Amino acid sequence: MATSTVLEMRDVSLTYHPPEGPVPAVRGVNLSVGAGEVVGVAGESGCGKSTLISTVLRLYPKNATVEGEVLIDGEDVFQMKWNRIRAVRWGEAAVVFQGALHSLNPIQRIGKQLAEPIFVHDKGATEASAAKKVRELLDQVGLPARHANAYPHQLSGGQKQRIMIALALTCDPKVLLCDEPTTALDVMGQAQILDLLKGIARDRSMGMLIISHDLSVLASNCDRISIMYAGRVIEQGVASELFAEPAHPYTRALMGAFPTIGDAGSRYAPSGLPGDPPFPGDLPSGCSFHPRCPIATVECESVDVGLLPVGISRQVACIHVNQEVVAS
Ligand SMILES: Nc1ncnc2c1ncn2[C@@H]1O[C@H](COP(=O)(O)OP(=O)(O)OP(=O)(O)O)[C@@H](O)[C@H]1O
Ligand SMILES: [Mg+2]
Repeated sequence: MATSTVLEMRDVSLTYHPPEGPVPAVRGVNLSVGAGEVVGVAGESGCGKSTLISTVLRLYPKNATVEGEVLIDGEDVFQMKWNRIRAVRWGEAAVVFQGALHSLNPIQRIGKQLAEPIFVHDKGATEASAAKKVRELLDQVGLPARHANAYPHQLSGGQKQRIMIALALTCDPKVLLCDEPTTALDVMGQAQILDLLKGIARDRSMGMLIISHDLSVLASNCDRISIMYAGRVIEQGVASELFAEPAHPYTRALMGAFPTIGDAGSRYAPSGLPGDPPFPGDLPSGCSFHPRCPIATVECESVDVGLLPVGISRQVACIHVNQEVVAS
């Protein structure tokens, strides 16, 4: 990859420890994001997407245990002291949280809410410089400057989501992590927000990780895609290639769940998957997907292969996918 890597996850695992017993929600994830690159992570509810994001800025519960390395511009987040973590949050990496558009302060004007992190991170900021930055941020997310005077209830869902993105950009982070940034929006709103995010990543040479349970949302906006199942990445590769030729049976099923309008001859016809994803505290033996997999064999009940290279730029965790399936 020509661009420099701004976020790299190496063999990252996170286990929650509720009283009922350990919940290994993320297991050995390897993933990287380059400057100006948009990487998508997709998977069903509960597969560990938000947990994965929480590792980047150490936003997980105190008693959770983590393993591996999360490097932001080469610096391991897990090894940072707390004052360094505080500077890295917003400054180096920022998160647009799942459902965050509902967390804007209802009794504070948008401009004031956008200015707050500017004052926290830039001790030299003045009222005038912060107001100028707020205007620039609103412009970047496609909103008129007058919205600085609005209260959240005066904005639509899509406009509020744009404000959340502007908030995350206040301190010019190198990496932006977006957790389901479009769930609350209609189809047009979703397309506009994703377009906006992609444009921001390119303009600012910012690395962007976009999480969604809806694979179709990521289709035309990501450079690379990782598919998660039961805390693991089970397939990853170049987005266009992965969508053209999904290799893992789970990816195929996920794609089948999102029919393309006008594509009556799709090979991945809407089908849905039998059963539910497993609870990470009680995983099946072998490949976690085998109880729901249409091509599972006896071997799959005991073998858990992890990601294997398939073709030039694809990795797939399935013993039944061979080199010929994806001749990229
Ligand atoms: N604080 C916690 N303590 C114990 N278990 C947790 C905690 N937070 C999440 N989990 C469990 O970890 C697993 C992964 O949760 P996570 O929120 O990362 O999923 P997700 O992929 O983001 O799902 P969704 O698409 O619904 O947002 C789930 O089984 C969840 O119940
Ligand atoms: Mg989530």
